[in-house]
Amino acid sequence: MPPEALLLQGQGIEKRYGGVVALSQVQIRLYRGEILGLVGPNGAGKTTLVDVISGTQRANAGSLELLGNRLHGPASRRSRLGLARTFQYPQLALDLTVEQNLMVGRVAGRHRSAFGMITSAFLGAFWRADPEDGRVVRAIADELGLDHLERMTRDLTLGEQRLLEVGRALAQEPLVMLLDEPFAGSDASGVAGIADVIRTVQERGHGIILVDHNVDLVSSLADRMMLIDRGTVAFDGDPSDCIASPEMRQVYFGSEDIHRAT
Ligand SMILES: Nc1ncnc2c1ncn2[C@@H]1O[C@H](COP(=O)(O)OP(=O)(O)OP(=O)(O)O)[C@@H](O)[C@H]1O
Ligand SMILES: [Mg+2]
Repeated sequence: MPPEALLLQGQGIEKRYGGVVALSQVQIRLYRGEILGLVGPNGAGKTTLVDVISGTQRANAGSLELLGNRLHGPASRRSRLGLARTFQYPQLALDLTVEQNLMVGRVAGRHRSAFGMITSAFLGAFWRADPEDGRVVRAIADELGLDHLERMTRDLTLGEQRLLEVGRALAQEPLVMLLDEPFAGSDASGVAGIADVIRTVQERGHGIILVDHNVDLVSSLADRMMLIDRGTVAFDGDPSDCIASPEMRQVYFGSEDIHRAT
């Protein structure tokens, strides 16, 4: 890949939680239009890496660059710079409607904090948003098959909440989307919908970091796959080479089926 195609780069990333070393000497690169699959067993450090990149957690050491500029500061700042994420356990405003949660994503890139946006939503100031935002949000809902925009988020199934989180991230029109187990709890149509969105974001030339335990699903979507084991990168390369690698067998040794390792 030419250097100018590099979107995101991380070097020497370290993260400790007390005595637990969650990440150690992690290097990561993500190019334009690339889907990077991140796999590894429970507790390997996948979510921690997403947290450190998105700014939800602060790394103890290491550097991150987005389009060659140092990436630092809180998650809200990084959202404005073009990072959007979903959470392993959806973090949506349950007392807002589907449309309002999508709108939170839409304006997260512009407002100081999503919290401020949620507050203003309750105060009615929400609807002073640009009418274009409404159109974008409705188009995203259509794309994801999220009908009934006026439904309360707390009434959605887990699969629908995951879809909505992907929609909220999409509404930010990010350069980089970080998806932490977006398929978990979704039925087949939810999985297909999210996979379609991932491919669309890729076609737009953005980058996606996709975390999931389903190695088959990740490898079917990813251009490159990184295997994380006990906080370090055990393999980084072609998805089929990753699956066939001794590192993969080693990490999942003892598991009868590496494709459903957990
Ligand atoms: N907030 C936290 N406080 C303390 N320890 C944490 C915290 N978050 C993660 N850890 C620890 O860091 C390590 C990496 O956890 P992480 O959640 O990143 O793994 P993961 O690969 O996402 O696992 P899973 O597949 O189960 O989601 C684990 O040992 C975990 O217990
Ligand atoms: Mg995790």
